[in-house]
Amino acid sequence: MLTKNTKKICTLLGTRLPIVQAGMIWVSGAKLAAAAANSGCLGLIGAGSMQPELLEKHIIKARSLTTQPFGVNVPLLYSKAKEQIDVALEHGVKIFFTSAGSPKMFTDYLKGKGATVVHVTTTPELALKCEKAGVDAIVAEGFEAGGHNGRDEITTMCLIPQVVNAVSIPVIAAGGIGDGRAVAAALALGAHGVQIGSRFVATAEASAHSQFKDMITQSGSSDTMLAMRKLVPVRLLKNEFYAKIARAEESGASAEELKELLGKGRAKAGMFEGDLREGELEIGQVSGLIRDILPVQEVVSRLEQEFFAARESLKE
Ligand SMILES: Cc1cc2nc3c(=O)[nH]c(=O)nc-3n(C[C@H](O)[C@H](O)[C@H](O)COP(=O)(O)O)c2cc1C
Repeated sequence: MLTKNTKKICTLLGTRLPIVQAGMIWVSGAKLAAAAANSGCLGLIGAGSMQPELLEKHIIKARSLTTQPFGVNVPLLYSKAKEQIDVALEHGVKIFFTSAGSPKMFTDYLKGKGATVVHVTTTPELALKCEKAGVDAIVAEGFEAGGHNGRDEITTMCLIPQVVNAVSIPVIAAGGIGDGRAVAAALALGAHGVQIGSRFVATAEASAHSQFKDMITQSGSSDTMLAMRKLVPVRLLKNEFYAKIARAEESGASAEELKELLGKGRAKAGMFEGDLREGELEIGQVSGLIRDILPVQEVVSRLEQEFFAARESLKE
């Protein structure tokens, strides 16, 4: 998968492949991050669902499971973001993927500590702001992605070339990449690498509940929808909880009312504890393509084979 563009991202992240296993609350702990790292990708521990003490444990565990580099994803909307960053720095983490907040918040601080900083964006304008804030690379995440999403609803296919045109730092494409064909497509659009979330949820090493993983493998192409646009837009698998939110939104519920309906602990209940009816089940549109739960090594090896087959298929 090495090209002029992808070599830049592999050099920046210290990986064999231009693939990042996305940071995901309740899903990407030490086991998944280490397995991804051992398979040649950048593994990310998702700090968003962890108290700083738990994050510390995951970093120590990941280090015992791999000698390859891994990083930490810190969503900046949570109050403990600074503590999470400091714990990770103390334990020698050198790569940070920040998201859900301004790139100005911690980029200078992290760069001052010698870390590599990548920030997640959903528009070319935000990408430019990230570049100005001094980040090393950008994740450009399209509307089809699982989890929290941009308000502008720009699909990956449209977003990547516009972001690539807007900035001169490396761009990592995210959203809707579930097999090697999509990796080839993202690189053809000018991306330097890809970040993959949903496909890695349905792996043996992900800490997602087994029933959530099974539900993903049985979902159809239109079984996810974006919800809670007035609060924090999030792409969810349709279930009873989603239906309640959709009804409330249709009848004009305010952000406050949605917050109340959401309550506390929904994401944990759904994704980690397997409450398929009332829990929040974050996943991307590409779930309609995911039919099996595999070890990470097998997912990555298929991604590579499919990528080369896709590239070959474009030749006459
Ligand atoms: C279950 C789940 C949890 C997620 N949690 C986070 C998170 O904590 N922080 C973050 O920046 N992005 C999060 N995301 C988004 C991913 O990092 C990634 O950008 C996205 O999944 C890519 O799109 P895809 O799902 O189509 O591969 C999450 C996605 C999923 C599916």
